Amino acid sequence: MAELKKLLILPGDGIGPEVMREVKRVIDWLDRRRGVTFEIEEDLVGGASIEARGTPLSESTMQMARDADAVLFGAVGGPAWDHLGFANRPEIAILRLRQELGLFANLRPTIVYDPLVSASTLKPEIVRGLDMVIVRESTGGIYFGEPRGIETLPDGQKRGVNTEVYMTHEIERVGRVAFDLARKRKGRVASVEKSNVMESGLLWRQCMTALRDAEYPDITLTHVLADNCAMQMVRNPLQYDVIVTTNLFGDLLSDLASMLTGSLGMLPSATLGTVREDGRRHALYEPIHGSAPDIAGRGIANPLAQILSFALLLRHSFEMESVAAEIERAIVRVLGNGLRTQDIMATGAARVGTGVMGEAVLRELEKAPA
Ligand code: IPM
Ligand code: MG
Repeated sequence: MAELKKLLILPGDGIGPEVMREVKRVIDWLDRRRGVTFEIEEDLVGGASIEARGTPLSESTMQMARDADAVLFGAVGGPAWDHLGFANRPEIAILRLRQELGLFANLRPTIVYDPLVSASTLKPEIVRGLDMVIVRESTGGIYFGEPRGIETLPDGQKRGVNTEVYMTHEIERVGRVAFDLARKRKGRVASVEKSNVMESGLLWRQCMTALRDAEYPDITLTHVLADNCAMQMVRNPLQYDVIVTTNLFGDLLSDLASMLTGSLGMLPSATLGTVREDGRRHALYEPIHGSAPDIAGRGIANPLAQILSFALLLRHSFEMESVAAEIERAIVRVLGNGLRTQDIMATGAARVGTGVMGEAVLRELEKAPA
């Protein structure tokens, strides 16, 4: 018998466990209707782990993540832990997972589903049909660069330091992810940096050009300064296919991009590592939204980003493209039927909570022939 794929589920804090519950129903459907079974483990992470174990990510959880074929992550953080120092905050869990598993390419697809065109704060004609992916470098740059810290100077003043550093191999490997992706899409990559003011940005630009010339002559590469990209993204987002950028700019631009679609609650992400010698590749999947402490525990969170993250996991880690697409189509049908959670509510639609939304996705899945 083939070995079962190992899936580690880390629901985390706030709405994390609530939206993850709906994914588990989809996993259960896969098992019942498609005969697809995983070896599933679940553990605490973030604030929940701080409460139980005094650390946002325990060594045993880290080991489970190393052993897993894929990690499905919910969200971490909340006001209860805001007073903690950097090293102990819930957010450290996701940063450590990214770094220790070598998850350098964070894919953030930004898709405007037709039934949700009006959920965007932008005019329908600006966002209709939008389908782009931001590929954000996620283990380097200013998030991890040294030196860093806050020091007290002799005159009593304090000095806060963070450092943006990129090595050619870091730029090239994330560039390849973007170019490979573009090959399966519209063949266009926009590389985003601030080469007008930053040396690391200039190196980024030079490496991307060299890589395209050497390995991807079929891809159209443009260079866009990060500030201009933010402006272009709200002016005419349809011009973009694949965007590749640094850790910090990717963080900012992906939040901006999420609002083109009208709801953070809709956007999944995949973070991929290098393909190793045994052919395995670490990968972690999580919604873009956070733990939303303001609505946690009320059963009103949108579970779709978490379910879409699971679909990405099936696609990228388990090579189950057809089931992934089936789940995505079911979600579009549910939206087409007029069901909305509060974050994407529109006049004339039916407002539902987390469980009913999950149930509706299941109903659509059940309708599809096996
Ligand atoms: C994200 C988040 C994280 C980041 C935080 C929670 C550390 O904003 O995934 O975009 O800044 O990378
Ligand atoms: Mg962010």
